[in-house]
Amino acid sequence: MIKRPSQTCLIILAAGNGTRMVSKKPKVMHNIAGLPLLGHVLKATRKLSSSLANKTSIATTVVLAPAMTDVAEFVTSFEKSARIAYQTEQLGTAHAVSCALEGLSLQEEDTVIILFGDTPLIKSSTVATVIDFLSMPSRQEAVTGVVVVGMTPPDPNAYGRLVCDQAGKLLKIVEFKHATDVEKEITFCNSGVMAFKASCLKKVLPDIKAQKANGEHYLTDAIEAARAHKFDIQTLSVPFEEVEGVNTQRDLAQAEARYQNRRRLEFLDLGCVMVAPETVYFSHDTVIEPNVTLEPNIFFGPQVTVKSGSLIKAFSHIEGALIEEKAVIGPFARLRPGTIIGQEARIGNFVEVKNATFASGSKANHLSYVGDATVGAKANIGAGTITCNYDGYFKHRTEIGEGAFIGSNSCLVAPVSIGKNAIIGAASTITESVEDDELAVARAPQKAFADKAKKIHETKSKLKKQRVA
Ligand code: UD1
Ligand code: MG
Repeated sequence: MIKRPSQTCLIILAAGNGTRMVSKKPKVMHNIAGLPLLGHVLKATRKLSSSLANKTSIATTVVLAPAMTDVAEFVTSFEKSARIAYQTEQLGTAHAVSCALEGLSLQEEDTVIILFGDTPLIKSSTVATVIDFLSMPSRQEAVTGVVVVGMTPPDPNAYGRLVCDQAGKLLKIVEFKHATDVEKEITFCNSGVMAFKASCLKKVLPDIKAQKANGEHYLTDAIEAARAHKFDIQTLSVPFEEVEGVNTQRDLAQAEARYQNRRRLEFLDLGCVMVAPETVYFSHDTVIEPNVTLEPNIFFGPQVTVKSGSLIKAFSHIEGALIEEKAVIGPFARLRPGTIIGQEARIGNFVEVKNATFASGSKANHLSYVGDATVGAKANIGAGTITCNYDGYFKHRTEIGEGAFIGSNSCLVAPVSIGKNAIIGAASTITESVEDDELAVARAPQKAFADKAKKIHETKSKLKKQRVA
């Protein structure tokens, strides 16, 4: 049989019930920065191959329960190359790994790295370090069979404990619920991440017995089995912040906070100016170019890019938007999906924009709704302008030409187009298209009645006095 080059099999366990989340949603579909936990793990393992010392190819398998159809759909759309393996019954982490191995043809020198779908903050560089560490040539006393990634959480409460001898060699892993009081004192904990030589994993998996207490096969029991087979076992310590497990809603909120902080620091390092970074919320895919200024209290939903030199003022809510160079947004602006704000364009307070393009230098500075619209370069949308885009059944477009001026409190009833440099008189209701350079005024003509106001004042005040008396 011809041997293929060795490869790395990455297995992500995600079939657990997640009962501690007290949620109808599978645990791994809960979001951090708008992306499911599982998506974060998949993202961290993308393009991993190029960071590995030996550049071996990576084959990813995600283990799911058969009922998790929405998770399977997510995996298929997010990471097309990932294979899904099903664990029919949730019989523990070792059993889940066995399910992943069915259908994989492992060679002895292959590497198998196991990650958990509920450990979303792991960095790509750390995964690469773990894989490389397994194959480090400096340790020749025995083939390293397994690398266990350990951590020292501030509160190690429910994590498995790494029981080591005096020389620091890992002897076994004890789950918290089965630990003795002395073992519970240990602060070095199991992160769940483990890398195995395939030769080792294939030997130890069949040796893992079901726990008497709950019938589960624990992957953590692989350590004692590996020792029995005389494999070398190594531990690698990584910061808790990267391998914190999410098991409860509290954990989820904490992981979100950690992730947000990481993103803020990344953007600050890239030259983004933020006076109160702790108040700015990013999506997992937000792109902020250098020299952007973000004022306090800004929310970024999915798919936002802000280009260099732009200023986003306080309390703006932005999703699905491209903001070009030197634009000014907010305060209190709302940009919804499909928005493109051109260079040096301005969107001011209480302006909502949806599925609309503002060309360079155009402005909507106050209190407007602009939806399903195109606004030409340097056009000015006056305060209170509404594009009436929806007739209760269908959406219609509004086209506003470059240099057009829309007077305050105008309604543009779509479909409608306003020509280049046209002027719309304030408070107009525009139902028909306006030509280039035209002035359109569509409001009730004003009538004046001499001295009528004076008479009204006199009559009414007399009447009021009589009623009070
Ligand atoms: C696990 C470890 C524990 C470690 C902790 C780190 C075991 C036995 N325990 O505990 O030592 O400190 O993670 O976060 O490994 N899963 C399956 N199928 C199953 C059971 C679980 O796919 O039958 C998946 C879950 O979806 C989850 C992961 O495995 O992504 C870990 O399971 P979980 O129940 O969260 O284990 P912990 O109690 O956190
Ligand atoms: Mg867990």
